[in-house]
Amino acid sequence: MEASETGNPPLDGQVALVSGGLGDIGRATALALHRAGARVAVSDLAPVRTGRRMSPEFHYTRVDVSDPEAVRDWVARVERDLGPPSLVVCNAGLVVPMGALETTQAVWERTLAVNLTGAFLLAQEAARRMVRRRRTGRIVFVGSWAGHVPHAQITAYSVAKAGLRMAMKCLAVELAPAGILVNEIAPGIVDAGLSGKLMARRRGLREKTRRKIPVQRLLEAEDVARGVVSLCQPENRHMTGSVVLMDGGLSLKGPI
Ligand SMILES: NC(=O)c1ccc[n+]([C@@H]2O[C@H](COP(=O)([O-])OP(=O)(O)OC[C@H]3O[C@@H](n4cnc5c(N)ncnc54)[C@H](O)[C@@H]3O)[C@@H](O)[C@H]2O)c1
Repeated sequence: MEASETGNPPLDGQVALVSGGLGDIGRATALALHRAGARVAVSDLAPVRTGRRMSPEFHYTRVDVSDPEAVRDWVARVERDLGPPSLVVCNAGLVVPMGALETTQAVWERTLAVNLTGAFLLAQEAARRMVRRRRTGRIVFVGSWAGHVPHAQITAYSVAKAGLRMAMKCLAVELAPAGILVNEIAPGIVDAGLSGKLMARRRGLREKTRRKIPVQRLLEAEDVARGVVSLCQPENRHMTGSVVLMDGGLSLKGPI
């Protein structure tokens, strides 16, 4: 990671929040932010003792992002322990493969509660505190190319990620005068995390999927993490309300 003109790492002294930080993309992002100099707090629905690797540098709290009180308590706790957060990565997510006609109300509601409401609640709570303290900052939503192209086999997820994009844009408009830039990174198919688990279910699916991507390559969690860090860099002073679509050309072709 490049050092700034002062010789310090670019995000030196900043406090970052990463939801879903025990997942593949969340963990890679937390590590990349840490390497860039940020003090990183992660939260996850999963307890840290589930055997997932967790670096001791990270402040961890068990949080369900769909629970507003838990989100409020988490941000307050991080502020008390590490200082006021100025970087926020709304990353927690889940997907339940189900076509539009099979989707149950419970799956619909939980998918929207975590992927859309949970991300919004975290961004809102962190932004309220930044505005109150007159601090500038960066908010990054981890969306998905599935929010840009209809995916009938994961309808609720596709709808949640499309909604996330509009939430991001509304926040970007409202927060721009306060110097808080809000953007989305929309990965295509990552060889890890949610799609890694789906691809592992069927033999040969990973390779078949890879061949359908125009660049013929699956994303790595670290590719997404680098994208998040670049949106958080202090030299990004103008980009807000934007989507970094990192899908290897997939959305140019429609659903796979
Ligand atoms: N893997 C992909 O191909 C891919 C593609 C596009 C977008 N994404 C997005 O990347 C983000 C991270 O997903 P991933 O692929 O690393 O999957 P992952 O399953 O490895 O990580 C997701 C994490 O979110 C956590 N989580 C789930 N529900 C939660 C809740 N209610 N509160 C707090 N944490 C909760 C899980 O415990 C998990 O640790 C998600 O937003 C996902 O939609 C992933």
